[in-house]
This record gives sequence, structure tokens and C-alpha cells, in this order.
Amino acid sequence: MSGPAGRLVALEGIDGSGKSTQATILAQRLGALLTYEPGGTELGVAIRALLLDPEHRPSARAEALLMAADRAQHVHEVIEPALAAGRWVVTDRYCGSTLAYQGFGRGLGAPSLHGVLEFATAGVAADLSVLLEVPLELARARTAGSWRDRLERDDDDFHARVAAGYQELVRSDPDRWVVVDGTADVETVADAVHAAVVGRLGRPG
Ligand code: TMP
Repeated sequence: MSGPAGRLVALEGIDGSGKSTQATILAQRLGALLTYEPGGTELGVAIRALLLDPEHRPSARAEALLMAADRAQHVHEVIEPALAAGRWVVTDRYCGSTLAYQGFGRGLGAPSLHGVLEFATAGVAADLSVLLEVPLELARARTAGSWRDRLERDDDDFHARVAAGYQELVRSDPDRWVVVDGTADVETVADAVHAAVVGRLGRPG
């Protein structure tokens, strides 16, 4: 007989939305495995360095495929085994990031990425993606002053397309997405994220 099913929850949002902090708190509250992309495996650390190094200039398609390669290894090594063991997994970014950043931000289009994502994940989809919504100006202000990686250095138009892309993803798949206001203090946002996840998926068994 199989045990309780694991669940995969993805925290999504633009850079500076606070999703890494919120992913950490959510995982603690759920007793879930906390992981992240890109870079959640040893191979992924190397792929992440390639992706975020401002010295490299990958094409939009190369960027999407590197993200997908990172995800394929992440699913294979971390996510799928944990789900198979009945664990809940909280990941800081998942397929929604590729759709928003490469699909909308880079203009590749979400439809052209679905096949790549399906291949990379072997069909392992997030049960719920939580979009932490923060105005672009606030998010940019939060990351100002710290070192910015290659994607963070992209211009405001790119980040505006990513933010609009997230909105579109929520609109097109409301059963698999939930939006949480990320502008309040950390504890208030954490309570809202937790309530949203438990409201949709219940509690870990
Ligand atoms: P992080 O700052 O959340 O660690 O993510 C690093 C950058 O990678 C961030 O700017 C978002 C970007 N990214 C994509 O463009 N596509 C993806 O599929 C993922 C997972 C991240």
C-alpha cells in the first residue's frame, strides 16, 4: 500500500519579491524539504554559475535550455525522490520562472516552452505555485545596493515583462496558482502564504 502523497509547492516572483525568505519559512512550517532553482544540485551549482555570470551572453534559447537542464537534474536527484517518499517539497522557483522569464521576459512565448518543460521535469508539475506579488519599483529597490547577477542587471522593461508574464500565468491556470501580497512585513506575508497553501492543498499527512 502506498503512503501519503508528497506535494510540490513552488514559490515564484520577480527578483526582490522576497520569495527565498518566504520559501524558507513555509518549508519550516510545513516540515517540507526546502530546495531551489537554479542550483539545487551539485551539477546545478555549476549550471547556475554559467547562467548568472555577467560575462556570458547566452541566447534566449540557450538560457531556457540551461534552466531546463538544471531543472531536469533537480527533479531527478531531489524533487522526485522526495515526492516518491511521501514528502512535501517547497522549491524556490520552478517551471513558472522559465515561463515568466524566458517565455515572457525573453519573448520565447510560453507555448514553445511547454514541451521543453515537460521533458525536463518528466511530467512532475507543481501542485501549487505561489506568486509573491510586489510592485516592480519596490522589488528593484530591495535588490539595489547588493551585487546583481546577469538577469538582475537586465533593464526595467525585461523585468516588467516578467511581472506581466506572471500575471498571465495566474490568469491562464488559476487552479494551480495563488497570488499573495508580498509588500507587508515578513511574518504577515508568511502567514498569508501558509494559509493559501493549506487552503488549497491541506496539511502534510
Ligand atoms: P534566484 O535569484 O531566485 O536565485 O534566481 C536566479 C535568476 O534566475 C533570477 O533572476 C530568475 C532566473 N531564472 C530564470 O530566468 N528562469 C528560470 O527558470 C529560473 C529557475 C530562474
